[in-house]
Amino acid sequence: MLSAITGDALRRRFADAGQGHVFAFERDLDEVGRARLHARLAEIDLDLVTQFQQLIRAVPSAAKPAVTFEPPEVIPRRRGDAESTVERRARQCGTELLRAGSVGWLVVAGGQASRLGYDAPKGCFPVTPLGATSLFELFARKLQAARDRHGVAAPWYVMTSDATDGPTRATFEKSGHFGLDPSDVVFFRQSMVPALDDAGRILMAEKDAPFLAPNGHGGVLAALASSGALEHARQRGVSTFSYFQIDNPLARPADALFLGHHALSGARMSSKVVKKRSADEKVGVLGRVDGRLSCIEYSDLPGNLRDARDERGRLVFSAGNIAAHAIERTFVEDLTRGGLRLPWHRAQKRIACVGPDGERMEVDGSKFEAFVFDALGEAGASVVLEVAREEEFSPVKNKDGEDSPATARRDQCRLHAGWAARAGVALPAPLSDGIHPVEVDPRFAEDAEEFAARMPARPREIDGGHLYAP
Ligand code: UD1
Repeated sequence: MLSAITGDALRRRFADAGQGHVFAFERDLDEVGRARLHARLAEIDLDLVTQFQQLIRAVPSAAKPAVTFEPPEVIPRRRGDAESTVERRARQCGTELLRAGSVGWLVVAGGQASRLGYDAPKGCFPVTPLGATSLFELFARKLQAARDRHGVAAPWYVMTSDATDGPTRATFEKSGHFGLDPSDVVFFRQSMVPALDDAGRILMAEKDAPFLAPNGHGGVLAALASSGALEHARQRGVSTFSYFQIDNPLARPADALFLGHHALSGARMSSKVVKKRSADEKVGVLGRVDGRLSCIEYSDLPGNLRDARDERGRLVFSAGNIAAHAIERTFVEDLTRGGLRLPWHRAQKRIACVGPDGERMEVDGSKFEAFVFDALGEAGASVVLEVAREEEFSPVKNKDGEDSPATARRDQCRLHAGWAARAGVALPAPLSDGIHPVEVDPRFAEDAEEFAARMPARPREIDGGHLYAP
């Protein structure tokens, strides 16, 4: 009886919103299927659907009011070995934060690795060149290394989505949380939002299920709050989240220099950037849009600005977003307290769904995502720090070509072979691309200085390469 009432109420709500078609196959379903359909529909926020429809109907970009784009102020990267006084102070401040246990790690791992063509969560992908360690385990090791260095374990907040949550938790369980204390790892799930066809109708993935997709990494802020992870962080004494993407094996969440610059500037949300390789490299760039700091996606930056160069021939918009941020916990609390409103971005896609006659088909449709960097504009104070690409950025996005497993393995070897060369140790023979196959486990050393301090040490030989591990 209860389900009948709920069903009627739901049917009315959806019919009033012009979405009555979501019940079209109800008669084909058994009781379990109907209950499933109702439960899934009950979670859909129809006001949000109205917002999505407005985005679909929005005027094409040519007719939008003009916006201004300016490059941001960037703390440039140090060239050479000597640290400036400012850098020394920043590093010291960041180290103190890390030692005080004030920094929590925050990774977004809710995306589906569709471009990579990998069926499991991307965090399970074997990414290191010799040990084939997965991204999750690699970051668990980085966390252990930071714990040993600073004498305190950072809590690790792991955002999953409906698709990645189960397998991610199972992977951590099976491996004994990769040696971490399970109470230091907090999983929380981002929300899902419906996909619409070009007429603004909710698409059906199955007869008993609307098509739902993760709400973008911007969903991390609301999900932190609603899941209780934000409260957990407060109770653990976390003042700053070190945010990173699971797809970048070179990410350095315990970077004292960055955290120190962020803290000394009184910033509420800060970003690391690398110099764009070329005008057409497909990364977002940090910039000011109508004066507000933001990340401008590759496709949103007008071509003339994308190619613009200064009098010395350098790209004007060159601050490539590597999606590593320092975010104050109180900033997330403030943002989420009054009902967070990040803008929605529409991605037009071919979407496989159930057609009007119950047949499987593909239609032109839209998915909707919020982006975490849209919060930058709310932050007031913000630091943008340039870091070395070869030390901090080599994401795994595509099956092959740029930003693929092959380039990520190459870049890890190149970095680690550089440490070995600087320490004066014998390198293994280079591979056909001229790179020496060297891998350094983060628990062995996290940078060239630590590596040198560990010498002499014997590496393990794997397939003609050298793996340095504890
Ligand atoms: C992203 C940035 C781009 C930046 C690049 C650096 C956007 C829109 N663009 O591009 O500015 O230069 O990274 O690598 O983000 N994720 C979730 N839930 C979601 C969607 C994504 O957790 O709903 C996570 C993914 O697991 C991944 C990360 O967010 O770790 C990035 O997502 P992805 O869609 O791969 O971003 P890119 O388009 O590659």
